[in-house]
Amino acid sequence: MQDEGFEDKAGKTILIRTEKRKLLLVGLGKLGELTVLDWQKAFAGVARKAKEVNAKTLTIALPIEELAKKTTMTPQNLIKGAVEGLSLGSYEFLRHKHEDERKKEKKIEEVTFCVDKKFEKEVQKGIEAGELSSKATVFARDLVNEPSSVTTPTFLSLVARSLAKENSEISCTVLGRKEMEKLGMGGILGIAKGSAQEPKFITLAYQPERRHQTVVLVGKGVTFDSGGLSLKKQEGMETMKLDMAGAADILALFSVLPDMKLNVAVIGLIPAVENMPSGTAVKPGDVLTAYNGKTIEVISTDAEGRVILADALSYAKKFNPSVILDLATLTGACIIALGEEVAGFFSNNRALSLSIQKAADKTGEPVWELPLVASYKELLKSAVADLGNVTKNRNAGAITAALFLEAFVPPKIPWAHIDIAGPAWAEKDTVVSPIGATGFGVRLILSYLEALGQEKKKK
Ligand code: BES
Ligand code: ZN
Ligand code: ZN
Repeated sequence: MQDEGFEDKAGKTILIRTEKRKLLLVGLGKLGELTVLDWQKAFAGVARKAKEVNAKTLTIALPIEELAKKTTMTPQNLIKGAVEGLSLGSYEFLRHKHEDERKKEKKIEEVTFCVDKKFEKEVQKGIEAGELSSKATVFARDLVNEPSSVTTPTFLSLVARSLAKENSEISCTVLGRKEMEKLGMGGILGIAKGSAQEPKFITLAYQPERRHQTVVLVGKGVTFDSGGLSLKKQEGMETMKLDMAGAADILALFSVLPDMKLNVAVIGLIPAVENMPSGTAVKPGDVLTAYNGKTIEVISTDAEGRVILADALSYAKKFNPSVILDLATLTGACIIALGEEVAGFFSNNRALSLSIQKAADKTGEPVWELPLVASYKELLKSAVADLGNVTKNRNAGAITAALFLEAFVPPKIPWAHIDIAGPAWAEKDTVVSPIGATGFGVRLILSYLEALGQEKKKK
């Protein structure tokens, strides 16, 4: 190890070749400082190395008792994190590559964990949990990476329908333009006006018999964000297929919810539209009326996410929710504030924000709370409507967007908004994700829902 200059740092590896096998030593650094994300990264590194040397079977020896003692993770969570790291590190999106290249993809076929027998049960549970959350994350990645010519609002509605078809515990309803007109969902209809694609409003429901709470999840489903008439600049516009990452997260969650055996009801709401410029598009200065009757002056057609979420958040009231969470690639300002690795979140409820922070710490999807500064609400005033959709300048852009959303949240309901504009997409290759969609948010919400279930059991 000394010869090779191996350092004991999280993620560092050294490969030793023997005649029959390859032995990979993995550094973890100081165990007392090891985060869940470091742990996942270490295993993502293992997966990448294994693929590089064409290893099909992995045998992983873990001193699990010592690891559980010295880190903040339980044996079960250690295994879960290891499985997640292995899956996420080996992810590639090759659907549109030539067949020859797809065939060349090196796949890890089997992984064996060697641990002390007394942890057998926990290890098994950890494997199952890790497989489930990885499956959901990959589901979200695939949907977001797929070009927007495929993942239209109609396509998303078909994905939702097929989830309901596959599972009797899930039901799905889809509203088209006509139904939305009847209900007065003017925000979604307004943003959809410039596109040839029909907007869809998707509702997914998972309502197990034993349920003590109802969580409504709302996901921004802008299948492509050109900016509309407030057109975005050319550079980087191709990545705006990512603007349905919130919606993808919700579909991904529903793909595994029945396997989670939760005792909470979960409702998923997805306003799905394409934001395009055209002769029929919504114009700056137009006024739209949202589902709750509030009027919005569309000053920038590029601030479309908050306008469609206005309808969805106010519609959530119908389900008498105990909590509303929304996931949205909402603002570039949030990326400026927190960068690519951390999501910003906002909440009108202390207990809820603590639960979200806790869920994030447990999963390796970092979040940071930003304040809903009440005095900034004034900046959203409009001369002609109840609210303008943007403020005069870009100051505190992530906060003013969240304040706009808050105006449409049904009164007195704990709500949190998670702005995933940064971490939903990897601009550069990292060990846990190639360039493109990351599936950020899926594991965070899974962990939040899991904790909700346990809360009740304790009581
Ligand atoms: N979808 C974008 C936000 C975004 C930007 C997501 C970059 C991911 C990466 C959103 O609809 C948008 O365009 N927001 C504007 C708001 C502005 C007009 C107030 C922004 O952030 O520039
Ligand atoms: Zn936009
Ligand atoms: Zn957008």
